[in-house]
Amino acid sequence: MTSLGHNLPDSLQPHDEWRHVFSYHPMSVPIARAEGIYLYDDNGKQYIDASGGPFSVNLPHNHPRMKQAIAAQLDKYAYTHPVMADPLRAEFCRMLAEITPGDLDHAYLVSGGSEAVETAFKIARQAQINRGHAEKYKIISHHDSYHGMTLATLGASGSPGSHAHFVPMLPKWPHIRQYSDFDRPEGTSRDEWGVVCAQALETAIHYEGPQTVAAFLATPHGCGPDYAVVPPKTYWEKIREICDRYDVLLIADEVVTGFGRTGTWFAMEQFGVLPDIMTLAKGISSSYVPFGAVAVSASINQPFEEGAYFVHGFTNGGHPLACAAGCELINIIRDERLLENCRAQSEVLFSHRDSLLAHPTVRDVRGWGLMLVLELLKDKETLEFFEPKLEAEKLFQALALKNGLVMYGTLYGPHRQPAFRRGLPAWISPPLSITSEETMLMMQRLDDTLSEWEAMVL
Ligand SMILES: Cc1ncc(COP(=O)(O)O)c(C=O)c1O
Repeated sequence: MTSLGHNLPDSLQPHDEWRHVFSYHPMSVPIARAEGIYLYDDNGKQYIDASGGPFSVNLPHNHPRMKQAIAAQLDKYAYTHPVMADPLRAEFCRMLAEITPGDLDHAYLVSGGSEAVETAFKIARQAQINRGHAEKYKIISHHDSYHGMTLATLGASGSPGSHAHFVPMLPKWPHIRQYSDFDRPEGTSRDEWGVVCAQALETAIHYEGPQTVAAFLATPHGCGPDYAVVPPKTYWEKIREICDRYDVLLIADEVVTGFGRTGTWFAMEQFGVLPDIMTLAKGISSSYVPFGAVAVSASINQPFEEGAYFVHGFTNGGHPLACAAGCELINIIRDERLLENCRAQSEVLFSHRDSLLAHPTVRDVRGWGLMLVLELLKDKETLEFFEPKLEAEKLFQALALKNGLVMYGTLYGPHRQPAFRRGLPAWISPPLSITSEETMLMMQRLDDTLSEWEAMVL
């Protein structure tokens, strides 16, 4: 018996030898190696990396070309002071400009998503100063969003639960509602509702004072309880219109959705809406090495190009090994037609929608590209959640591991806001190289896990 009180294998018992690791997850499995979409533990047991880490592994694990590109750079030099012109840094920014939409042709390189978002705040603030709007400094974002773990990005993230301990240290910027399909009034179309939800931005700008608002920050799809809810185009079109009306810059956080996750290089392309600033990480290097970037428009870049000083710089931002990985990743996505494969496998993945919804606990199945979210509840009709003592989410993760499936199950359940009566999101976002057979196998393991879990928690 484990601490969960269920009959689970010994391999899923909490591991004592890891106790010196800060904030260790007691059910972590020691991984020995990875290949393609699979991870293997010390005993040779195979797991499907069904969520690609936290949505960051877009390429297969152990890709020979990625290893070769990183090793080749390592053979030359691992690192130089940023004042030394690293040719790969220029090459990566040139290649990035080829794939970013519109005139988002200039990039500031960092080493992760939180750094990218934090840097975007500073770029937005300074761009407003460059334009003569010295009072504009606030960043508006969504309730229940997630944008990172540094203090400013945590402040912009919209979860009161994660703010709790740090409130005095966080910027006090406003949050607005997200687009959600769950509270759309009957008789109102998605397109109409998209416009209504976007108008929350105009209201917030009005009450904050347009002269104080520097930027609006959001992910292309929903976050938190609405994770992967894809808004209609009207939502983003209206947001763009409002930003333009009030000289507010639009920052699209594409840390998760960028580099092919939704079937196009960047998700915002699918709305036909061009942001002023785009934040990138995760898929940018498929997490082979830490990497991130902020892509900015020509008009934002111009004053900096002409000499405006940007007070910024991270020691490992745009690290040579990361630039080597980033260049090769773009080449691999092109050569192996991974955007096309993402779109094809998305069809296979979402063809399981009805069979998933047939489970008594699956309240919703949503997403796009190779990003599928299940929302799990005890009772779909009453929207009742599982009793905390059942530790339903931990058990779900443990059973998934037993069945050879690594899922990014959030431990959001215990912290969920009862008022919203929403379920536990469970995420599927495998490497973009997944084949049809592998997609079927992954969904079979998910189906088995759901059935076993339901027998224990219902
Ligand atoms: C949308 C979004 N932005 C930013 C971040 C922060 O990225 P990182 O964990 O690389 O700092 C995350 C991480 O999950 C994210 O999902």
